[in-house]
Amino acid sequence: MAQENTSNSVTFLLLVFFFFTVVPSCCGWVGVNWGTMATHQLPPEKVVKMLKENGFRKLKLFDADEWIMEALIGTDIEVMLAIPNIMLDKMSNSPKAAESWVYENVTSYSYTGGVKIKYVAVGNEPFLKAYNGTFLNKTLPALKNIQTSLNNAGLGLKIKATVPFNADIYYSPDSNPVPSAGDFRPEIKDLTTEIIEFLYSNNAPFAVNIYPFLSLYGNDHFPFDYAFFDGGNKPLRDGKSLYTNVFDANLDTLLWALDKAGYPDMQVIVGEVGWPTDGDKNANVKNANRFYLGLLKHALSDKGTPKRKGTIDMYLFSLIDENAKSVAPGNFERHWGIFELDGKPKYELDLTGQHKKKGLVPVEGIKYLEKRWCVLDPDVTDFDDLPNSIDYACSQSDCTSLGYGSTCNNLTLQGNASYAFNMYYQVNDQKDWDCDFSGLAIITHKDPSENGCEFPVMIARGSSLLLHGGILDILNKAVHEFVVSM
Ligand SMILES: *[C@@H]1O[C@H](CO)[C@@H](O)[C@H](O)[C@H]1NC(C)=O
Ligand SMILES: *[C@@H]1O[C@H](CO)[C@@H](O)[C@H](O)[C@H]1NC(C)=O
Ligand SMILES: *[C@@H]1O[C@H](CO)[C@@H](O)[C@H](O)[C@H]1NC(C)=O
Ligand SMILES: *[C@@H]1O[C@H](CO)[C@@H](O)[C@H](O)[C@H]1NC(C)=O
Ligand SMILES: *[C@@H]1O[C@H](CO)[C@@H](O)[C@H](O)[C@H]1NC(C)=O
Repeated sequence: MAQENTSNSVTFLLLVFFFFTVVPSCCGWVGVNWGTMATHQLPPEKVVKMLKENGFRKLKLFDADEWIMEALIGTDIEVMLAIPNIMLDKMSNSPKAAESWVYENVTSYSYTGGVKIKYVAVGNEPFLKAYNGTFLNKTLPALKNIQTSLNNAGLGLKIKATVPFNADIYYSPDSNPVPSAGDFRPEIKDLTTEIIEFLYSNNAPFAVNIYPFLSLYGNDHFPFDYAFFDGGNKPLRDGKSLYTNVFDANLDTLLWALDKAGYPDMQVIVGEVGWPTDGDKNANVKNANRFYLGLLKHALSDKGTPKRKGTIDMYLFSLIDENAKSVAPGNFERHWGIFELDGKPKYELDLTGQHKKKGLVPVEGIKYLEKRWCVLDPDVTDFDDLPNSIDYACSQSDCTSLGYGSTCNNLTLQGNASYAFNMYYQVNDQKDWDCDFSGLAIITHKDPSENGCEFPVMIARGSSLLLHGGILDILNKAVHEFVVSM
């Protein structure tokens, strides 16, 4: 997009560059993932307005949500639209089903002035070990059926199907843990290579999700600064190359694996990369801000990685917190947003990577419920029933901020109860009968928030959309789809 004004000779040079170097990278603009596993959705048109105001030009969606697609009509935002894993079986077995998916979810928006769909993501991390191989044999046939349908609809040249992979499909051996020793995991190597071959022949990119945060999570021996881009750790030496951050090392491990598979010039995009702000001792605003500052500056410069120069095409993970996501991978899963559930930015971020002190524009015009909270009745003296009540309230809402290392971890037992009761009350839209807990709870108008532990007030339904029915449906959906990034 930024290139539209360049002269023909520059365009020619860019083309030459494109064909004769290994970096067919695109636009110095960062994209973002918009997941919707939340009990309360912000109105899509307000979120889209915010995306435009902040200069997000690329968007990745996990589902062809009709409300969101409608809101994107007429914008310049380039969209990667995903087919959930749960539909892969159908898409792989039935070319007709793939045909109708493309017709309903792509073709119908792909008119002049419609939605700028650029990629279809077939599944999400389908080779994740946690799926026990469920999608291994479905992915390539589904990918082929979708691309064929796109081709048949006359869209194949401008819309490419791809598969966002998790980074654990490749590795470098413990005996030689350097990027140049990288390769695909032996048990899925043939399958992965077939997919790469198909993508390559179709001029489609390879997409991968890379999470330096997860390198730290659960590994206390991981050199902390190596997760960031300003690190003071001793660099990792790999032949002539020096690695000062795990992101580059990870990406280059993939590039070496692609090299060995015979695809040294395969286009690669980073489908997800980000840092959560709660739910773990390393998940906080300070670390997230440090990570993003470094990432944006690094990825949007031409520096590239030791193995490949050029800007890195990437989608941040993620746009808005998702309070109904499965926490199987960890409590941090519900806190990946650059924006809070109510559309407020969590920190300053200059999306152009130039480190300007620049605030992000919030989602505007959001209405909240009344300023009131549900807490433990201070007159209660018998705490025997508290643990059960807390467990129940938490199982039906979101208490991920209570855990070890999280923002509300230092509450007393009574504080825990108040937090849990309030979360339950808020996700149920402050209905009076949802603040009872056998008489243990009362409503207060005094904000119980303390020391960085926020007791939220929910956004109002008038300004939000309830997806399909209640919290239970959404929690079930979240558990089933298990959209994790491990
Ligand atoms: C279009 O996408 C939506 C959302 O994923 C899905 O529910 C629907 O079944 C799709 N349409 C077709 C015809 O497959
Ligand atoms: C994968 O297998 C493990 C162990 O057998 C099981 O606990 C888990 O639920 C399975 N996961 C899926 C997604 O089937
Ligand atoms: C996938 O297909 C291969 C070859 O057809 C077969 O050996 C393997 O068992 C299949 N795997 C699964 C998980 O169905
Ligand atoms: C909780 O208390 C511990 C020990 O006093 C302290 O180190 C930690 O920073 C506190 N955490 C928060 C989130 O306030
Ligand atoms: C509060 O809840 C958290 C998360 O369940 C737990 O780790 C912590 O020990 C609880 N605190 C007290 C005082 O019970």
